[in-house]
Parts: sequence; structure tokens; C-alpha cells
Amino acid sequence: MGKEFNITPTDVPKVETKYRHIVTPLPHPDSVATLEKLRQFEPQSMRGQPPIVWDRAEDIFVYDKYGNRWLDWSSGVLVTNAGHGVPEVRQAIIDQVNSGLLHNYCFPSEERAALAGYLAGLSPEGLKKVFLLTTGSEATECALKLARAQGIKVGGTKKIGLVGFDRGFHGRTLGSQQAGGMAGQKSWIVNLDRAIINVPFPDGYWEENTGFDAFLNGLDRAGLTGDNIAGVMMETYQGVGPDFAPIEYVRKLATWCKAHKVVLIFDEVQAGFGRTGKFWAFEHYGVTPDLICCGKGISSSLPLSAVIGREEIMDQFPPGSMTSTHTGNPVCCAAAMASVKKIIRDKLTENAAWLEPVLLAGLKRIQARHPEVVGHVTAKGLVGGMQIVNPGRKEPNHDLAHGIIERCYQKGLLLFAPVGAWGQTVKIAPPLTIPLDALEEGLVVLSQATDEAVTALSQSVKVQTL
Ligand SMILES: Cc1ncc(COP(=O)(O)O)c(C=O)c1O
Repeated sequence: MGKEFNITPTDVPKVETKYRHIVTPLPHPDSVATLEKLRQFEPQSMRGQPPIVWDRAEDIFVYDKYGNRWLDWSSGVLVTNAGHGVPEVRQAIIDQVNSGLLHNYCFPSEERAALAGYLAGLSPEGLKKVFLLTTGSEATECALKLARAQGIKVGGTKKIGLVGFDRGFHGRTLGSQQAGGMAGQKSWIVNLDRAIINVPFPDGYWEENTGFDAFLNGLDRAGLTGDNIAGVMMETYQGVGPDFAPIEYVRKLATWCKAHKVVLIFDEVQAGFGRTGKFWAFEHYGVTPDLICCGKGISSSLPLSAVIGREEIMDQFPPGSMTSTHTGNPVCCAAAMASVKKIIRDKLTENAAWLEPVLLAGLKRIQARHPEVVGHVTAKGLVGGMQIVNPGRKEPNHDLAHGIIERCYQKGLLLFAPVGAWGQTVKIAPPLTIPLDALEEGLVVLSQATDEAVTALSQSVKVQTL
């Protein structure tokens, strides 16, 4: 996994449409020095995205300095829900900078008070305490800590278990990575906490049993019962798909959590703020968690995240003992207020819901053209994915997924590198401002890129078998 894109300038056909503009070799020869500098001074783990040196990004577009313009289907990893660099967000940031307050730690500020109150108002009944942080991983780490502390409070030190799901992702820090279910990413931990376990995720594709019995069997296998479990952390949709669990499953999970005094945490870091056609993705299940973790789309720009939850869980730690240096930075808070207000005012959640059938139908058409390698397609709101497999087999094919994304980049459609436990998913996540015809144009490009990548694959197989 983790293939790199070629950074040798390559001639590609010119593209000039309403939404895409590719007029130079890619990457542009003058940008190679920057790409090489990054390779020299950053860890290699930072490589792997299409080699565009971003110059600016506006609404649904990403630009380089050389006249090329991509239709963005990455939202910079599901951040720019309200669009890139939208005027309201820029203005809010400028106003805040000009106000003279750039940082205030945990000292009180109007900006933090305003955002905490606003987010509480947008959260379900009972979830009225908001802890602002900086990254998604910080939010999930904090939620794991809160859940475990709550478990100890209600059930003693035997109630410390934390349950995550196979192939789940909650971040790359010690706790969040253990709660996540990417086996290949945990080898560095070695002495895994035996009270942090993963159970099967009922996506209906890699895991065919979508019944709640699989959850209970997973606990049994680990020798745990409800008395030992403090919290369950679930991505509201599993990002690698994107895959939702069956509604029935999640309702049973919520009932089970309540019965066993287990904190139910939905990780909405990438699912929240309208992405799936509901403001919070858990609304699709008709279930309210005890804690919400969110981030990414909250500000459409600057780093900010939050844990939102029930008072009795959020208020466990005394004054001064659950803080963070950059908690609720005022500039980030101002950006978030402007971004969330835009999502609501411009009905971007509704736009995502309205465009879902178009996205899903487009992906299904591509799958129908290539059923042997497009194993599984899903879309909810404006997040979609195609899981790419070896011909006729349910085995992930990272190289082909990578080839599809590389061809899209060369045609002026920007997606981030393939994701998923095995890097098999071509993921689609445009800003929620995308209009219908831009979505349709992107689907045509994705279809052509898939055709070409599949043809290249079959030609290389022929050559190998000659
Ligand atoms: C569902 C989910 N949780 C947590 C995280 C971690 O967020 P961050 O990268 O901001 O730490 C991510 C990031 O991709 C995510 O998708």
C-alpha cells in the first residue's frame, strides 16, 4: 500500500471545460523543485497524494500556479464542506485577526462561548456540553478517555473495555489507532491494550453477517461482557466504504449500550456537517449517541474539532484537568461559525441529499461496465466510494484504484489517494456546494478514467502471460 504518484512531468491531453482546465504537462515542470523539497524534508509518510502544488482553492476548484484548474472531489480530505476559501469564512477569519485576539488558551473568550453554544444548539436533546479541540484524533482520544472514566465511575475498574470495529479509523494516535480496526497500522504498538477490542463491522460486503449477534459474539470471543465495557466507538459511516451499518443493527447497539451503561460514541469527524445529506450522519439511524466526535467539515478551513456530549460524562474531570493549549482558538472558532452558518443558510445538507441519487447512479453505471473489478459501490449524500478488487475476486486491488485516481488527476478531476484497510477505495467527496452539472461531468471523467485503467490492466496481464 501507499504507492507514490510519478513526479516526472508528463504530457497529457489538454482539457478545457466549464469545470476543468488542464493546459500543461503534469506535474508542471516548475513545480517539481517544490515536490522534491517536500520529499527531502518531510517524512515519506507525507507523500502519496497527486502531485499538484496547490496555489489556491476556491469553492469546488483547486488551482496550481500554471493555469491548471481541477474540479475538486476531495474537499481536502472532507474538510471543505462549505467550499474552499468561501468569502464568508475568509471574512470571518480576517475580522477575527483584525480584532486583535489570536489566542487565549482556556481563558474565556466570546468566540469560544458563541461556538460552543451554537454547536450545542445544533446537537440532539441531552448533548449540551461542548469541548473544542484541534484535530479529529484529539477528539476521539478525548472521547475514549471520557468513556473509560465513565465506565470506572459506574462499574469499577473492571468496566474499562472499549469496542471499535474492524476496518474502522479514528486517527493515528495511540488510543485512537487501537480503537480503529486497521490491523496493518497497529504493529508499532506491540503491547496492545487487551481491553480495547474490535468486532466485525456489518458493511454487508467484506463482512456478510450484518446481524447484531456478530457484535455480541465479538465480545464473547474476547471474554468480555457488558459489565466490562465502558464505551463503543463507531464511525457513523465507515470511511473506507463509505459504509453504513444496518439501521436495525445500530438501534440494537444503542439499546444494548443503554442497558449496560456503556457510552455510545459516534465518530462524526468525517460524517458530520451535512456530508451525508443529514446534518449529523447518525440521524440516518434515528439513534442519539452519548458522545459525538467531530472535526474536519466544522470549519471548512482552519483546524478545529469537538467532543459534544452528555453533561454527566463531559463533566467528570475537575476544573483545569481536561484542557488543551489550542482549545477553541478564536480564529478557528470564527471560521467554524461562518462555515456552519453557510452550510445551514445555503441548505448544503439538502444539496447533498438531493445529489445522492445522481452520485449513486453514476457509480453504479461504472460498476455495471466493470463488474469484475468494481466490487462494491456506495454513496450517501455527497460521499461515495468504489472498492476496487482483483478481476472476479473479492480481493482488494490498490494498484488499479491508484491508476484510476491518477488518470482522473491528469484529466482535471482531483481525488485523494485510495483509502481503506488495503487502499482499495476510490473515494468521492466534493464540497457540498457542487452543482448538478459539475457532479455529472465528474462522473463522466471517473468513468473514462476507470475504462482506461481497466484496459491498461488487461493489457499488462496479456503481456505478462505472453
Ligand atoms: C472518522 C475519522 N475519525 C478521526 C479522524 C482523525 O482526524 P485527524 O486527522 O484530524 O486527527 C479521521 C481522519 O481522517 C476520520 O476520518
